[in-house]
Amino acid sequence: MPYSKIAGLGYYVPETVVTNQDLEKIMDTSDAWIQERTGIRERRFFTYGTDSIASMAAHASRQAIERAGLQPGDIDFIILATITSDYYFPGDGVLLQRELGLETIGALDVKNQCSGFIYALSVGDQFVRSGMYKNILVVGAEIQSTFLDKSTEGRNVAVIFGDGAGAVVLQATDSEDHRILSTHLHADGRYAEDLYVKGPGGSRPDRWFAPDMLENGDMEVKMNGSAVFKHAIQRFPEVIQEALDANGYTTSDISLLVPHQANLRISEYVRQKMGLSEDKVVNNIQHYGNTTAASIPIALTEAWEAGRVQPGDLICLAAFGSGFTWASALIRW
Ligand code: UT7
Repeated sequence: MPYSKIAGLGYYVPETVVTNQDLEKIMDTSDAWIQERTGIRERRFFTYGTDSIASMAAHASRQAIERAGLQPGDIDFIILATITSDYYFPGDGVLLQRELGLETIGALDVKNQCSGFIYALSVGDQFVRSGMYKNILVVGAEIQSTFLDKSTEGRNVAVIFGDGAGAVVLQATDSEDHRILSTHLHADGRYAEDLYVKGPGGSRPDRWFAPDMLENGDMEVKMNGSAVFKHAIQRFPEVIQEALDANGYTTSDISLLVPHQANLRISEYVRQKMGLSEDKVVNNIQHYGNTTAASIPIALTEAWEAGRVQPGDLICLAAFGSGFTWASALIRW
């Protein structure tokens, strides 16, 4: 039975940089507050008419495919993770397939919020291991800037999120040494409403959308920030440890931890709790904010481009977010 490995990586962020100072002009917030509580200095917002979730996903995917030494036509399946699809349906998997000019290969959408990319990677890993596909595109892409209430009322959420896309090519390999070792997926739906967007939704009295939803703010992101924080700092270390235990490793074996970029304070807490030195944890939230399903492939690609991911390294990916969902993946590069 084959294993899977990451054969190529890519990312795309939109051109428009929105600094904390830009946000100060439209809501009651401050650069000092945002940096102290989240570590974020700036984020990217998409340009209407230029970027879409599918187009950003395609930019990242083309780079990943090229770096894998492949042509788009070599891809035999697409898995795309997003919570902010271009249309309510169909999902962006098919739109990405169309953007890449690929015909009739399957396209699967994953809606698992901040853990979406690792969930997608895990699904891809199983498909490769079963022998069903050889080259799978696994993508995370989000346009969140249009979801946000950018008034003072929505400031606790609006300052955190940004737009972007990241992609990897997952490829079949016989190598025992360079491959995805394991993935670990968890969820606890009791906390679904601690970070969610209520509408539009099917279980409404009449139609799945209505003017009152706008007035009630039902279509904005609602977040119980302290609950998310509290659970995140428990679940991140837990799921990283689970991945290490499953493979007989300890934290000292980790070459690089690539956490979902939720909040610099969360990543810093996890780093200290796991006893990792600063150079072993990737942080780029300062520049992009939290890009949900895109954050891990963007951070992994940047780290790889900077030479921080080398053959033989033990790379750990970990995520926590809305659902609550959390997940990890351990990779021998
Ligand atoms: O992938 C998962 C995504 N989500 C997360 O990771 C979120 C995890 N949680 C967090 O990161 C933090 O809870 C936040 C950064 C969201 C908030 O930090 P906090 O330390 O929990 O602040 P808080 O919500 O308790 O608010 C403290 C104060 C409040 O004012 P008062 O009531 O003390 O007067 C807020 O109104 O800060 C105020 N505040 C702000 N002030 C300036 C909230 N948002 C802002 C803001 N600018 N943007």
